[in-house]
Amino acid sequence: MTEAFDAVDVIVTKRDGGTLTADQIDWVVDAYTRGAVADEQMSSLAMAILQRGMDRTEIAQWTKAMIASGERLDFSDLPMPTADKHSTGGVGDKITLPLAPLVAACGVAVPQLSGRGLGHTGGTLDKLESIPGWRASLSNEEMHEQLRSVGAVICAAGSGLAPADKKLYALRDVTGTVEAIPLIASSIMSKKIAEGTGVLVLDVKVGSGAFMKDLDMARELAATMVDLGTDAGVTTSALLTDMSTPLGRGIGNGLEVTESVEVLAGGGPADVVELTIMLAREMLAGAGITDVDPAEALEDGRAMDTWRRMISAQGGDPDATMPDAPHTEEVLAESDGVITRMDALGVGVAAWRLGAGRARKEDPVQASAGVFLHKTLGETVRKGDVIMTLNTETPERFDRAKAALADACDGEGTVLIEKSGEGRGPIVLDRIGTAT
Ligand code: URA
Repeated sequence: MTEAFDAVDVIVTKRDGGTLTADQIDWVVDAYTRGAVADEQMSSLAMAILQRGMDRTEIAQWTKAMIASGERLDFSDLPMPTADKHSTGGVGDKITLPLAPLVAACGVAVPQLSGRGLGHTGGTLDKLESIPGWRASLSNEEMHEQLRSVGAVICAAGSGLAPADKKLYALRDVTGTVEAIPLIASSIMSKKIAEGTGVLVLDVKVGSGAFMKDLDMARELAATMVDLGTDAGVTTSALLTDMSTPLGRGIGNGLEVTESVEVLAGGGPADVVELTIMLAREMLAGAGITDVDPAEALEDGRAMDTWRRMISAQGGDPDATMPDAPHTEEVLAESDGVITRMDALGVGVAAWRLGAGRARKEDPVQASAGVFLHKTLGETVRKGDVIMTLNTETPERFDRAKAALADACDGEGTVLIEKSGEGRGPIVLDRIGTAT
C-alpha cells in the first residue's frame, strides 16, 4: 500500500516546532496502529510532542484519530443519563468503589471502564478482584444489561476500545514520553469518549503520590481534558484534589475493599466520604440532577444495596470478608507529638513493594498486601504507638517496603512527628469546567 505521508516528514515538522495537519495526524495514528509506522519512529514523534507541545486543534484531532482506531460504545438507549469518573491515580484512591453504586442509587447509570494498577498507584480492577468470584471481563452486551438492571458496572475496558492508545501507551512507558500533557490528555480522553458516557468528571490528583506533582501542571492537564470532552459533546468537568497524603487508612487491594464497604455502610474515614460525595454531586449535576442528595443515599443504605447487586451481578460474593495477611510488621512512633506528614508516595511505594502492586503488566498482585494507617495526618501519637501495619503474603518484601518509607521526601522519611500541627487541608483544591 502506498502511504499518504512519510513518517520522517511528520517527525521533522513537530521536531522543528511546526503544527501537524489533521491529515498528517489521522495518517500517523492509523499507520502506527497498522504497523506501517515503526515503534522507533513513533517514539521519536512522541518525544518531539513532549518537547514542542501541541495546540488545541492538534490535540483534538489526535484524540479523534485514537477513538477512530477502535469501537465506540453507545448507551443512548438507556432510560437514564450516564456519568463516569476518571481519576489520574493516587494512593489509597478507592473512591470508584463506593462512588459508582452511590451515583447509580441516585438515578444516573455509571459505565465505569477501569484498569489495573501499574507502579505505586493501585488499579480498581485489582481491588475488586480481591472479592472471591468477581469477574472483571464483561462483553459489551453484558455491560449494557447490567447498566439497565443495576445501574452501575465496573469492568475492564475491552481490547476494541482505542487500540491505538494501547500500543502508544506501552511505547511511551518505555521511552520517557509518558509525561507529555497532549499525550496524557488524548490517551485518557480517547478511551472515555469512546466509552460513550454522557457526563465525565475527572479527578485530577495533585501532590507527591500523583502523576502531577504541582498544581499548575495539574490545572493545564485538567483544562486540556475538559476542552477535549466538551468539544466531543461530553459534559466534562474536573476536580483537582490533594494527593500529598493517602486517602483513608487502607492502602492495598483487600484493605481498600473493606474501607469502601465501611463507607457504603455509613462509616469510613472522613476524607474518603467527603471526596466520594463531592464527586457524586459533580456527576449528578452534570446529568442535570440537583435535587438528590448523595449523602442521604449513603446514609440510608441505598448505595449499599446497589453495591451488593453490582458485585453479585459480576459473580462476586458481597458478604465475603477480605483475607488477612499472613505476615505483618508494625511501624511505631519514635516520639510524642502530632503527625504533620504522611507522605503519599512513601506509603504508595511501600504498599506496592509489599505486593499490592505490580512492576510488570504480567505480575500477579496480592489481595491482602498493603499498609494500614492506624494514625494519619493531624493525629496525636505517643512514643511507641503503632502508626501503621505493613501486610504481605511474602515476608522477604518487608525490608524494601521499609526502605521506601525511609527514603521518601528526599530521605527525610514518610512520617514526620512534630510538637504541634494541622490536620488535612481541603481535599478539593480547584474545579475546572462548566457543569455545576
Ligand atoms: N492514564 C492513561 O490512560 N494514559 C496516560 O497517558 C496516563 C494515564
